[in-house]
Amino acid sequence: LRGDELIVVSNREPYIHEKGDGGVVCKRPASGLVTAVEPVMRACSGTWIAHGSGGADRQVVDRQDRVMVPPGSDEYTLRRIWLTPEEEQGYYYGFANEGLWPLCHVAHVRPVFRESDWEAYRRVNERFADAVVAEARSEDPVVLVQDYHFALLPALIRKRLPRATILTFWHIPWPNPESFGICPWRNELLEGLLGSTIIGFHTRFHCKNFMETVDRNLEARIEVEHSTITSNKQTTLVESYPISIAWPDEAERAAWPSVADCRSAVRSRLGLPADHKLAVGVDRFDYTKGILERIHAVERMLEKHPDWVGRFSLLQVAAPSRSELDEYKLFQQRIRQVTERVNTRFGRPGCLAVYLLAEHHEHAAVNELYRAADVCVVTSLHDGMNLVCKEFIAARDDEQGVLLLSRFAGAAAELTEALIVNPYHVEESADALLKAITMPAPEQRERMGNLRITVRDYNVFRWAGRMLADAARWRLRERIEAR
Ligand code: G6P
Repeated sequence: LRGDELIVVSNREPYIHEKGDGGVVCKRPASGLVTAVEPVMRACSGTWIAHGSGGADRQVVDRQDRVMVPPGSDEYTLRRIWLTPEEEQGYYYGFANEGLWPLCHVAHVRPVFRESDWEAYRRVNERFADAVVAEARSEDPVVLVQDYHFALLPALIRKRLPRATILTFWHIPWPNPESFGICPWRNELLEGLLGSTIIGFHTRFHCKNFMETVDRNLEARIEVEHSTITSNKQTTLVESYPISIAWPDEAERAAWPSVADCRSAVRSRLGLPADHKLAVGVDRFDYTKGILERIHAVERMLEKHPDWVGRFSLLQVAAPSRSELDEYKLFQQRIRQVTERVNTRFGRPGCLAVYLLAEHHEHAAVNELYRAADVCVVTSLHDGMNLVCKEFIAARDDEQGVLLLSRFAGAAAELTEALIVNPYHVEESADALLKAITMPAPEQRERMGNLRITVRDYNVFRWAGRMLADAARWRLRERIEAR
């Protein structure tokens, strides 16, 4: 595979240029998708097409709306697509985030389907298809389509570049056919996706749900034993590829402050003593992440074990996300209220039970928190994979620290040495929290050691490598058959 044949399409861009005080500053967004795909792109080069969302994005691009990134090392091309406010409203906030996001997470927020959002979604998918065709240097490029913003894109590309290899990865869960069935445009979405050469999900379970959804809704030939679907003369492989992170190398690790320094820096910033137990949560401020359930678990733990009051806190980073949407605004308010209530009950002079930092943190700051934590809490109500838990594991080269992980995150299938909880069961989570903060060091080492081997070995290059190897095999077979 030549790097210049590779095109990635996602909604969120990997680098966002903003106007800062002293000129243009470049930021990295909080997105599991970007965390995973970016290192692969840096290794392969090629072109990444994404929505230009930053205030200074237009200032740094050339006449074709392209900019080389990462800034300073220029490893691949970022091509930005400009959306009108109406397009962004309908396609991104509307159909993608008020429709597909709750639809696929089944997180008890009712999906909203508006005709006008659907129109915008279709239009924006067509605009991205135009960009893919414009960026393609050959008739058979390899296009990596990312996530639920682009369900229609594979078939649109297929129509214009019939020989393209289209790898579509769905970063969020795929629900069962009954749940997906409430979407008025389910068939169009499925037909769009089936333009792909390969459709990837994080887990076998999501693959199975997808195949059953197709079976229920389309006239298609499904071969369960080969995990393929044939529809409109196109055969698509449906496979699970658990996503991961780039394992930090020696040089990167050498630049990290020591665990002891991280522990004392974070605690002294909060005015807490050196032996204060700290649980850390790092999420986008999103109703699927189980932030409310987590705070309830902290409350219950302190209620049951008052000796920990004033000696234990949860530090929750919640990066503002999709805040234009009412559902997100209400959720943020609710979390603030509950945090206040719990702090009134269990805060002590100089020590809160819950520290809520509702702002974006750059990777180095997050890494410091991971290294300072006694526990990392990931209590998603439903999550495709969740990469926070893998980042936490990568950060703990001291082999200490406990991971408390929701069984409803895709990661729970791999990270079996974590303390696995049902976040809806407050009592269970509260008990797990106590177990985590009282776990003896040797047990922490044993669990963390094993978790580290898993994440190191199944890193994101393995994820991309497996997908690309399957694609290469597929391509070869098609060419042989075409002769
Ligand atoms: C999830 C989605 C990604 C998305 C990210 C951040 O990880 O799967 O597609 O980029 O959340 O959300 P945002 O809406 O800010 O891009």
